[in-house]
Amino acid sequence: MMDRFGIVILAAGKGERLRLSQPKPLAPVQGKKLVDYPLQASKRFLQKSNDYGNISVILGNGKDEVKSYIETDTNHSDIEFIVQEEQLGTGDAVKTYISKSKFIKETDYIIVMCADTPLITEIELSRMFKLMGQNNVNAVVASFTTDNPVGYGRIVKSDSDSEFGLTIVEEKDANLEIKKIQEVNSGLYIFKTSFLIDHIGALNSNNQSNEFYLTDIFTNDYKVMNMNFSEKDTFLGVNNLEQLEKVSKILRKKKIEMLRSDGVRFIDSDSVYIDDSVNICAGSLIYPNVVIEGNTSIGENVIIDVGCVIRNSKINKNVSLKSYSHLEEVIVHENCSVGPFARLRPGSELSKEVKVGNFVEIKKTLLKDGAKVSHLSYVGDAEIGEGTNIGCGFITCNYDGVKKHKTIIGSNCFVGSDTQVVAPVEIGNDSFVASGSTINQSMPEGSFAISRGRQTTKEGMAKKFLKSK
Ligand code: UD1
Ligand code: MG
Repeated sequence: MMDRFGIVILAAGKGERLRLSQPKPLAPVQGKKLVDYPLQASKRFLQKSNDYGNISVILGNGKDEVKSYIETDTNHSDIEFIVQEEQLGTGDAVKTYISKSKFIKETDYIIVMCADTPLITEIELSRMFKLMGQNNVNAVVASFTTDNPVGYGRIVKSDSDSEFGLTIVEEKDANLEIKKIQEVNSGLYIFKTSFLIDHIGALNSNNQSNEFYLTDIFTNDYKVMNMNFSEKDTFLGVNNLEQLEKVSKILRKKKIEMLRSDGVRFIDSDSVYIDDSVNICAGSLIYPNVVIEGNTSIGENVIIDVGCVIRNSKINKNVSLKSYSHLEEVIVHENCSVGPFARLRPGSELSKEVKVGNFVEIKKTLLKDGAKVSHLSYVGDAEIGEGTNIGCGFITCNYDGVKKHKTIIGSNCFVGSDTQVVAPVEIGNDSFVASGSTINQSMPEGSFAISRGRQTTKEGMAKKFLKSK
């Protein structure tokens, strides 16, 4: 028979110690938010076990922000949101879930996770559920042993030899003897629904924090147990910025290991930062000090040289990004070459076999197949045709102080060095612009334009001229 799960993610707490402007579940981690990780672990657990289940999130502090963030992901349309009006403790949060969730009647087991432990995966959930079945217990809590147990609830085993029965004592309520215990509560639990419903009502707040502790459900009188995990990093909680950095580092390492096993080569991955949301295909090569963030995908056999930064961009196969190039919200099609020291700004698209060379800035511009802008140029709000060659020191004067205007240059044009085009301007296909020109009138197809001061040369004049000074 299918097991039916209710998974509840506690995300109502304030997270004051993090000192971020956003609520704790929305703390940034590896291009995602803290709350994305327990959601992902829950979804994968349900998918892999082929069981039936529903996921609920308990909201409180920053509830509207957290809800609307989760809702923007279309994969999350089935998630239930429950508001805990006052944050009276983890016990109260779970009580609120039981009284408000429309799924409770359809569950045999309830998994409780915290929004602030992003390294837990479906693997830990599966192992705990297996142990629960083997021992037919009412509840299992995941524990681990640490040299620095400060801040965690301590696992206090019953005096008897039985492997069942335990209590959890919070830091604030622990005496010196209990504080020495190094086995701690991770904040991840599985309960039989009937057991949880029967005992949640009896919780009280007679403790140092005046909170309802979920942990008080564990006593020596019930058949409950802990599962000690040796991989203690898995349960790292994020309560301050140091811990946020630490879990980010661990997740980053995991991401790089995954990419490597998919065939992405790194020269020195320790210096590379790649968000979880990034995709990179096999055969690509990443040099040191590269940062790739956001919704970015990189095709096969792309070379990303030292110091490149890429955000929310799509890079197709066989592209070469030379050192220190900066790309943001752009599309680069196959076989292009970019940089070194190029800046591609939002809204730009490089069609196939385009070359953008050193010290070139491209903004909101389409460069069609085979176009070249090789040196020291600014191209903004423009369209450059197929096979057109733009010389060195080219500038689109796209802004008149009030509005931006467009430059359109056709295919197979030659635009000489040190040319400015004062937009709006259109240059027809197969045209030629002599270097040093300022173009402020459109040019028909096949035309030639030159616009610069006529040169006068006077032989032998140089010395005389200097003497006169
Ligand atoms: C809790 C455990 C502690 C364990 C630790 C592991 C209790 C009483 N203590 O302590 O034994 O070692 O986690 O990290 O459970 N939350 C709500 N509503 C509330 C209070 C909290 O939704 O009213 C949420 C928080 O947003 C957070 C989670 O519950 O995601 C845990 O709360 P937190 O305050 O971090 O508990 P700890 O002090 O870490
Ligand atoms: Mg915590």
